[in-house]
Amino acid sequence: ANKKLLILAGDGIGPEVMRQVERVLDWYAKRRAVSFGVNHGLVGGCSYDKHGTPLTDETMGEAMEADAVLLGAVGGPKWDSLPFEKKPERGLLRLRKDMELFANLRPAIVFGPLADASSLKRELVDGLDIMIVRELTGGVYFGKPRGIETLPDGTRRGINTQVYTTPEIQRVARVAFDLARLRGRKVCSVEKANVMESGVLWREEVQKLHDADYKDVELSHMYADNCAMQLVRQPKQFDVIVTDNLFGDLLSDCAAMLTGSLGMLPSASLGAADARGRRRALYEPVHGSAPDIAGKDLANPLATILSLAMMLRYSFALGADADLLEKAVSNALGAGIRTGDIMTPGATKVSTAGMGDAVLKELDKL
Ligand code: NAI
Ligand code: MG
Repeated sequence: ANKKLLILAGDGIGPEVMRQVERVLDWYAKRRAVSFGVNHGLVGGCSYDKHGTPLTDETMGEAMEADAVLLGAVGGPKWDSLPFEKKPERGLLRLRKDMELFANLRPAIVFGPLADASSLKRELVDGLDIMIVRELTGGVYFGKPRGIETLPDGTRRGINTQVYTTPEIQRVARVAFDLARLRGRKVCSVEKANVMESGVLWREEVQKLHDADYKDVELSHMYADNCAMQLVRQPKQFDVIVTDNLFGDLLSDCAAMLTGSLGMLPSASLGAADARGRRRALYEPVHGSAPDIAGKDLANPLATILSLAMMLRYSFALGADADLLEKAVSNALGAGIRTGDIMTPGATKVSTAGMGDAVLKELDKL
């Protein structure tokens, strides 16, 4: 167990879904001899309740030392009126910032029959498997100058600046090309070079990197507005999409909804390699703490279980083990096992723990 894993279950349904992940980890230790040195820590409201801060320096330090961090979710009504600095979300933002997680990986995969799909939608998304790589630490959300100013005539103006540098573009593009080599060998780079200078630079730099190091990957360029349309029109044309922070925010949410429920969506956020050549990484479901169903054993644990699969694949190069877990999830769904959020007619409705049972049972069969 020389691989260090930090588990931060967080608030609301976080601990419930993470319990199922821990069962899966036990299975890997027993059956596949894949084991980790696991530490547990607090993040979000639960950390505030105990320590008066959503993330202690000590836990932050453990995250920096870990080979990977697995996070549940943070937040809830109990902490909504806290000042900004103490809010649960600040814990997550600090993790992302201090770990320099510049590449956000959001897969959109359709595993089985959708809960709410028309036959038209079913045809469009059946077998869908795309990966959106969103730049996470630069662009218009962070660019300077920014602020709200009042002009001499009393007019107010809000200012944000879209800025990208060549290293920022190249490092996220490199992540996308490397991913494409593990998948369908196609990257679509998305910007608005027709109207934005940062988009022109983005396009040039991605193309340069491609021509220098990734000629074996097929590269195309697309304007962001067209990409939004194409995602809805014919999503299966894409393999890997790489784009900036703002466009990635929108396009990843759009792609997510092609696949059905929030309860099914994993994510990974990758940082720069450190001195030991180890890439910092945080894995978490896309969904939040779901206070409306917390504590009721109703939450779908698959988003977090699939985040664990991403961890096996991207932090530990355990691709075969990741495949196995994804196959078990797919088989459990194929057997008609459903939590409430993805219930389909004729399927078997199970609890959070029941879905964990089903995945473990399928793992046993593989
Ligand atoms: P949410 O994702 O927690 O819930 C939205 C809806 O989806 C709810 O009806 C919920 O029951 C359902 N849902 C979410 N995950 C589910 C799962 N695994 N299984 C079944 N149903 C699921 O988003 P919401 O309601 O906007 O936010 C609730 C709290 O979570 C807030 O405090 C928010 O700040 C926080 N949040 C935290 C995030 C994080 O930790 N990364 C991300 C988004 C929200
Ligand atoms: Mg978003």
